[in-house]
Amino acid sequence: MGYVDMKESPGNLLSLRNISKSFQSADTNLAVLKNFSLDIGRGEFVSILGPSGCGKSTLLKICSSMISQDSGTVKISGSIVGAPDKRRILMLQDDNQLFPWLTVEKNVVFSTVGSDSIRTESKLSLLLEMAGLSDFSGYYPHQLSGGMKKRTALARALAGDPDILLMDEPFGSLDAKIKTKLQEFLLELWKKYGMTVLFVTHDIEEAIRLGQRILIMNDSGNIICDEKISLRENKTLSEDDFFELYRKYHTLLTGSSQF
Ligand SMILES: Nc1ncnc2c1ncn2[C@@H]1O[C@H](COP(=O)(O)OP(=O)(O)OP(=O)(O)O)[C@@H](O)[C@H]1O
Ligand SMILES: [Mg+2]
Repeated sequence: MGYVDMKESPGNLLSLRNISKSFQSADTNLAVLKNFSLDIGRGEFVSILGPSGCGKSTLLKICSSMISQDSGTVKISGSIVGAPDKRRILMLQDDNQLFPWLTVEKNVVFSTVGSDSIRTESKLSLLLEMAGLSDFSGYYPHQLSGGMKKRTALARALAGDPDILLMDEPFGSLDAKIKTKLQEFLLELWKKYGMTVLFVTHDIEEAIRLGQRILIMNDSGNIICDEKISLRENKTLSEDDFFELYRKYHTLLTGSSQF
């Protein structure tokens, strides 16, 4: 536990070094991230937990270059990045990320403009099939349920072959059944395409279910837990083991083991 290794390893896809970010308002200066450093390996699925306001969304926005840090560097595969690009896709919680004037199919294909068309076509039909949307490819967003919109948005994000998916509480507002289905879909996509995922959630169970690695931030925006867990590899993980992790993260987040 605890984050100590500050050396960059060649396996890292994303390296944040000494990132600081403050927000100024009329009379205050709010320091959200202070000398924040983090390495994410290629293909890792990382769940990020932390109290409201600790800087999780700020972190993802900096990773996607949607906003810029005050100091420090963001590197992808060893090169400094400073402007958004389609290798890093940021997915937010709200549903309104689809173009309402485009069908499901056209929405999904949108991010592939300029890619090899034969490859794109076969990937597109596979993605639509995996998303359970093959029969709805001609539908417009207003004709879809919330879960279908999310699956379309996920399929679209993956169609463009991103290196990193940055997901900010993407399934936060959905009912438990749809949420479980979307989690399964996301894991299927991750296994098939091997993209790197940073997944912010307030749901400890979701963090454990999805992540290979769990990061927990405290109110000050520092990482207080960084550990690999191997739930998916180890199919025999018992309810007790799951519960032990749950209790540990709950205690770190709330200061209490009661729930
Ligand atoms: N553009 C901005 N201008 C001023 N303050 C901001 C801005 N963006 C974020 N903040 C502040 O920075 C802090 C961190 O915000 P951030 O959205 O990163 O938190 P978070 O960890 O994602 O919280 P939540 O779990 O509630 O989504 C908050 O106090 C927020 O009010
Ligand atoms: Mg947030």
